[in-house]
Amino acid sequence: MSRSVLLLPGDGIGPEIVAEAEKVLHKVNEKFSLGLSFESALVGGAAIDAEDTPLPADTLDKARKADAILLGAVGGPKWDSLPMAKRPEKGLLGLRSNLELFANLRPAILYPQLASASSLKPEVVSGLDILIVRELTGGIYFGQPRGVRQLESGERQGYNTYQYTESEIRRIGRVAFEAAQQRGKKLCSVDKANVLEVTVLWREIMEELKSEYPDVELSHMYVDNAAMQLVKAPKQFDVIVTGNMFGDILSDEAAMLTGSIGMLPSASLNSEKQGMYEPCHGSAPDIAGQGVANPLATIISAAMMLRYSLNEDDAAAAIEAAVSKVLDQGLRTADIMSEGGKKVSTREMGEAVLSAL
Ligand code: NAI
Ligand code: MG
Repeated sequence: MSRSVLLLPGDGIGPEIVAEAEKVLHKVNEKFSLGLSFESALVGGAAIDAEDTPLPADTLDKARKADAILLGAVGGPKWDSLPMAKRPEKGLLGLRSNLELFANLRPAILYPQLASASSLKPEVVSGLDILIVRELTGGIYFGQPRGVRQLESGERQGYNTYQYTESEIRRIGRVAFEAAQQRGKKLCSVDKANVLEVTVLWREIMEELKSEYPDVELSHMYVDNAAMQLVKAPKQFDVIVTGNMFGDILSDEAAMLTGSIGMLPSASLNSEKQGMYEPCHGSAPDIAGQGVANPLATIISAAMMLRYSLNEDDAAAAIEAAVSKVLDQGLRTADIMSEGGKKVSTREMGEAVLSAL
């Protein structure tokens, strides 16, 4: 069975880092006989320049047909003056909504070789390996009605609606339980069930799902406590599942426990397990074109793609092991450089991962 991967390099450092991840994917494709085929398309500013739209119909069409998508990053100062609806970011949002990528997976892993990059004490973060599963297409970010209205008193009032249907909660819950099954078998559902009715329902549904995953230990935590626990004792967590807004905040918090933006991957999945994989960072216009960007977040995103969308755990593990090996060798791009490290370029880092494979 042939499966297709769509590459969307995007803008800024996007093309540089995706090029390295592409080489790594070609290598494992051959080594593990995965039968993957590859295609590329334009998105973001690159698409605006070529076709006057951040998400050309051809790109969306290819994205719908692909088994998985690997994206670099979009945006940059060149397009900042465009109106909201025409900006590069619209390309990304358009892909997320059109493909219904409701499950955002953001692992926060501290590589022991980079322990000094974290702002927390080594004993608090060493060995950290947690996964935040954030609902991405519902909740208060999308609830209707919303807006700013004029009250009879003459005062203006801003309002949003926080809502989740049972099916929306159930499908994100399933993704989280399944992820926990593949990892440390612990799932913590984060809500505000003492104040918000939406999350009372959220908690009920998670409890209902529990019987389908008897090997996973489910716990619940209020979001304010979760924010505190994440910096106090982050290693108590394995998988965290939460709604869109809480997940937005907690995933950034968790990501920063590791201290290095150039190392953090992400996945956004739909119910068919089709997914879009991308580094957490942006297009880094300040270093674009210099060949110094860290390609590892994108390479690790490619490993996530193999694991979650393509069911190729061995190939994924091989990439992760190769990344760990190059870090062991002391190879460092500028963003993760520390004393004693050997400074390498984007391409040299990619080549080192290839040799380690
Ligand atoms: P950014 O993540 O692009 O850069 C923040 C800082 O981290 C910069 O100093 C940059 O040089 C550095 N950095 C980022 N990735 C790196 C890498 N792989 N290796 C080494 N250093 C790296 O965030 P910023 O500056 O806020 O945004 C720049 C542009 O990217 C904007 O146009 C923004 O809209 C866009 N953006 C796009 C995202 C996406 O495509 N998913 C996400 C975030 C921002
Ligand atoms: Mg955010």
